[in-house]
Amino acid sequence: MTNKGSYNLSMSSTTPKTEAAATTPTPLKLRTGPDMRVTVAGVELASPVIAASGTFGYGVEFEEIVTIAKIGAFVTKGLSREPMAGNPTPRIVETSSGMLNAIGLQNMGVKAFVAEKMPRLRQIPGAVVIANVFGFTIDDCLEVIRVLNDAPGIAMYELNASCPNTSHGGMVFGTDQHLLAELVSKCERASLRPLIVKLSPNVTSIAKMAKSAEDAGASGLSLVNTFLSMAIDVETRRPRIANVTAGLSGPAIKPIAVRMVYEVANAVKIPILGMGGILRAEDAVEFMLAGATAVQVGTASYADPRAVENIANGLRRWCATHEVAQASSLTRGLQL
Ligand SMILES: Cc1cc2nc3c(=O)[nH]c(=O)nc-3n(C[C@H](O)[C@H](O)[C@H](O)COP(=O)(O)O)c2cc1C
Repeated sequence: MTNKGSYNLSMSSTTPKTEAAATTPTPLKLRTGPDMRVTVAGVELASPVIAASGTFGYGVEFEEIVTIAKIGAFVTKGLSREPMAGNPTPRIVETSSGMLNAIGLQNMGVKAFVAEKMPRLRQIPGAVVIANVFGFTIDDCLEVIRVLNDAPGIAMYELNASCPNTSHGGMVFGTDQHLLAELVSKCERASLRPLIVKLSPNVTSIAKMAKSAEDAGASGLSLVNTFLSMAIDVETRRPRIANVTAGLSGPAIKPIAVRMVYEVANAVKIPILGMGGILRAEDAVEFMLAGATAVQVGTASYADPRAVENIANGLRRWCATHEVAQASSLTRGLQL
């Protein structure tokens, strides 16, 4: 039992949990279930487990499959100023330990999202909506944010400064420290909601990029997006993805993503949403110990559309069996 966190023990129900933690010398069985709530940029989530952008549609598609209130939040598919058709197919390929995709930000456009999806999303009990913002230029991102600002029911924005599958925008922002700072500071000023910045792992020092985003006003950071990669069909000698290069996600990237979360946690104070290859509750715990306040689950939803809820439930069980009274106490809990 390496957790430094608190245990909710035999104190009266009126005793604050922090006091219980401070006065309890040894771990005993939890009398109540673990408190799974975490707070990201002032927004309280019922669980630290969030559905990642691009793998959970616009949320409404999963309404019948996942009990939305049981997960912390979900991030929409990247939303652009105008609708986008995405890249030509094939644009998804499975590898032995992960997935290559070059969807190219296919989406209905921010105005259609607000008009057609938000009214339904507002009615789903417990739904916490994080809108993922994409633009080819800074002005595009600002326009997406302005449209979202007028829509009630959105908790925060996640600014995609890291898509590897478009020729401009996306990763171009996330791999240049000065450009990233300019993008973040302008978007932060335009935004009426907390702005989470999603970082690219395709850089030499993700900690430096993270610090630039924090200094420019980011309320939090999401990491990682997919790793730039490629696969070749040796029979045809052609790329297996029409776009030639693609983004790698899934279990293959997890150890690299955990290392990056750890490095970023040592460089910034703002909350981190960690992701990359999370399949099980233990993977989520690993990201939290490395420094994440919450985690996102992406590719796992392709194999099992209920994965996010299963991992949220699994994390609750893990906390109960490991006598972790507050899931939030796992964050930065790594012992060296
Ligand atoms: C098919 C697919 C589409 C994605 N689309 C987006 C997107 O629109 N915006 C974004 O910020 N990230 C997008 N991502 C990246 C994921 O949100 C996540 O950062 C990445 O896949 C790593 O997590 P995972 O290994 O759990 O999938 C996409 C990933 C996949 C696999």
